[in-house]
Amino acid sequence: MLKPDIGLYEATIRRVSRRKYLKRPVPAQSLEELKQLAERFQTEEPRIRIVIGPEGAERLFESRNGYGMATGAISYAAFIAKDNQVESALRTGYYGEWLILAATKLGLGTCWMAGTFQRPAAESLLSLQAGEELLCVTPLGEAVQEKSFKERAIATVMGSRKRKPLEALCTGMDTTLMPEWMKTALECARNAPSGVNLQPWRFTGNGDRVRIRLAEGKSGHGTSFIDCGISMLHFSIGARQAGVAGVWTAAPDPFLAEFVPDASGLGIGNK
Ligand SMILES: Cc1cc2nc3c(=O)[nH]c(=O)nc-3n(C[C@H](O)[C@H](O)[C@H](O)COP(=O)(O)O)c2cc1C
Repeated sequence: MLKPDIGLYEATIRRVSRRKYLKRPVPAQSLEELKQLAERFQTEEPRIRIVIGPEGAERLFESRNGYGMATGAISYAAFIAKDNQVESALRTGYYGEWLILAATKLGLGTCWMAGTFQRPAAESLLSLQAGEELLCVTPLGEAVQEKSFKERAIATVMGSRKRKPLEALCTGMDTTLMPEWMKTALECARNAPSGVNLQPWRFTGNGDRVRIRLAEGKSGHGTSFIDCGISMLHFSIGARQAGVAGVWTAAPDPFLAEFVPDASGLGIGNK
């Protein structure tokens, strides 16, 4: 997977799911930037496809009586995987979150949605090709400044602001003894969004390498592999923020991937 661009760390801290938007179009230049970014993600197998929809969001997020889980947005992004295997779900999470953080940098509100949208309407807008599956969508737009009562209620029900303590997410790692870059990376991974805020990822350390796997009993949950992909991107961004570049590579079962720092990347401090 590609190494994330420098400069996304702030967005990982600022991003929160937003479900109420001003009925204002997204500036054409912002949409163009997101489109160009999405094109960069098309090169690897198994393929994923991210579509930027300048308009039509109300058909995805609002029902006929005007009630929906997101209101007001005009634009959207759709995250599509070719053959929904573990690998493509991980990539959808990794690159989808990259797009979401880039949108956050552009001042746009977003909300990953795997369930609460009008799937038939979305699928007819997107003209899916053989073997493609629509995994998630997000509204894109200027969110209202203050969270609405409904947004706050949803966040409370989902416990959206809470994250599990680092110690509960790491097995076989002493969080007080690990290098600073690894701690920054794990904290950033910990802060990642996940479906119903389940945080199904667990990390294990092996020297300067870190492996990710699903928490016990979380393999059946619908978005768990997408969630892990999101958390992997956050880990890479945190590591990079602390001066360590690296790539996620294949790892033996039950691990989903292993983060391998570049040989030259260790010990260079906060560059
Ligand atoms: C893969 C994925 C799917 C999600 N699906 C939905 C959804 O269908 N509807 C919704 O309102 N929120 C959805 N969410 C948003 C989560 O509830 C939210 O990310 C989580 O509660 C953490 O809150 P935060 O994003 O504000 O940090 C989804 C998030 C992820 C990562």
